[in-house]
Amino acid sequence: ESGMFTLDPGFTSTASCESHITFIDGDEGTLLYRGYPIDELAENSDFIEVAYLLLSGELPDEDQYAGFKDDITYHTMVHEHFKQFYDGFRRDAHPMAIMCGVVGALSAFYHDSTDIHDPEQRKIASHRMIAKMPTIAAMAHKYCVGQPFVSPRNELSYTENFLRMCFSVPAEDYEVNKTLAKALDKIFILHMDHEQNASTSTVRLAGSSGANPFACIAAGIACLWGPAHGGANEAALKMLQEIGTKDRIPEYIAKAKDKSDPFRLMGFGHRVYKNYDPRAQVMQKACHEVLDALDIKDDPLLEVAMELEKIALEDEYFIEKKLYPNIDFYSGITLKAMGFPTSMFTVLFAVARTVGWIAQWQEMLEDPNQRIGRPRQIYTGAAKRSFVARDKR
Ligand code: SDX
Repeated sequence: ESGMFTLDPGFTSTASCESHITFIDGDEGTLLYRGYPIDELAENSDFIEVAYLLLSGELPDEDQYAGFKDDITYHTMVHEHFKQFYDGFRRDAHPMAIMCGVVGALSAFYHDSTDIHDPEQRKIASHRMIAKMPTIAAMAHKYCVGQPFVSPRNELSYTENFLRMCFSVPAEDYEVNKTLAKALDKIFILHMDHEQNASTSTVRLAGSSGANPFACIAAGIACLWGPAHGGANEAALKMLQEIGTKDRIPEYIAKAKDKSDPFRLMGFGHRVYKNYDPRAQVMQKACHEVLDALDIKDDPLLEVAMELEKIALEDEYFIEKKLYPNIDFYSGITLKAMGFPTSMFTVLFAVARTVGWIAQWQEMLEDPNQRIGRPRQIYTGAAKRSFVARDKR
């Protein structure tokens, strides 16, 4: 039977679905959401508008924008009892560990939106998750730093509200810095969707069994956490800190090229992009904007990052393998400058990617060809044999 299947480790040549949402041309370095170039959306749009675009397929007009914004802000609170989950975690828990647990727990709170066959329930579940994710993420941050939770403020924009929930303290309400909020909005837009990446494929696979949407998104969060995927933003910043000074870069480049060493340059390389990741370019710009807005001059990490990029892009190994900086290379420096601890970086990725996960999950359920995902294998184990009693082995 095994001869019937094609072995494709890492699914490098298998399309798992047809999709209308996101287009990538990895050789050209092109990324389009519903046909619109990522840099145009990042420069000119905002979270709510791009979320609407990804979910519905079209940019909203004024009424649609206002209606969608209302739908989202209606759901920003979490149930009071939901807060108790956080107390079960150690103070020094990684916030992504908290996210994996508490997002899964949402299914226990919102039974009235877990029937995946009812389009209205699917819509409410989608709005609930997009609305609550910043609240839940900010609560994870507050729990880890030992400060009280901050309730959402619906008159603020999606991103401003998130910043406020993360950085307000009882003694002092966070004053929204418009430049930072705009930069974070841009970062969120860049992260929202990326066709069939590992976590999105995980969400689709979980959803293909008919699992409820909250459980599916929790599965996506778990997958995103890995350092080869969304966890790379945290890993990249730690790497830059470890390198520390420019003179140590060659040593790390040599390590990354050494096949007997598991070390890889974090924030470098991509399965699909064999050219500059278009998001990395926008991200680098956003990074400079944030550092300027905060009047941070000569950030040593940025200096190391830029020099590392320069050396790598001139190195035979990286040229030949077409390894370029990806989205995770510059995001960490930016988020750190904004005041987020390293452990929150992947959480921020998850907040944004929730929109893409949901758009893809909905598209899958609406696909007439949708079936449970069930890959086959090439069996290479023992041939059939008879059981032998333990005392005879
Ligand atoms: C994300 O898929 C998506 O779309 C993901 C994402 C999204 O938005 O959803 O874009 C988000 O996950 C970005 C990627 C973040 N990860 C990292 O930055 C971690 C470091 N990068 C790598 O581990 C790696 O490049 C991957 C995981 C991103 C891609 O893995 P692939 O496609 O399996 O590529 P590969 O490992 O087969 O690499 C090809 C060659 C290999 O060498 P050879 O065996 O051919 O000799 O390039 C080498 C690799 O060893 N290589 C690297 C390298 N990345 C690849 N060598 C040194 N440093 C690196 N970073």
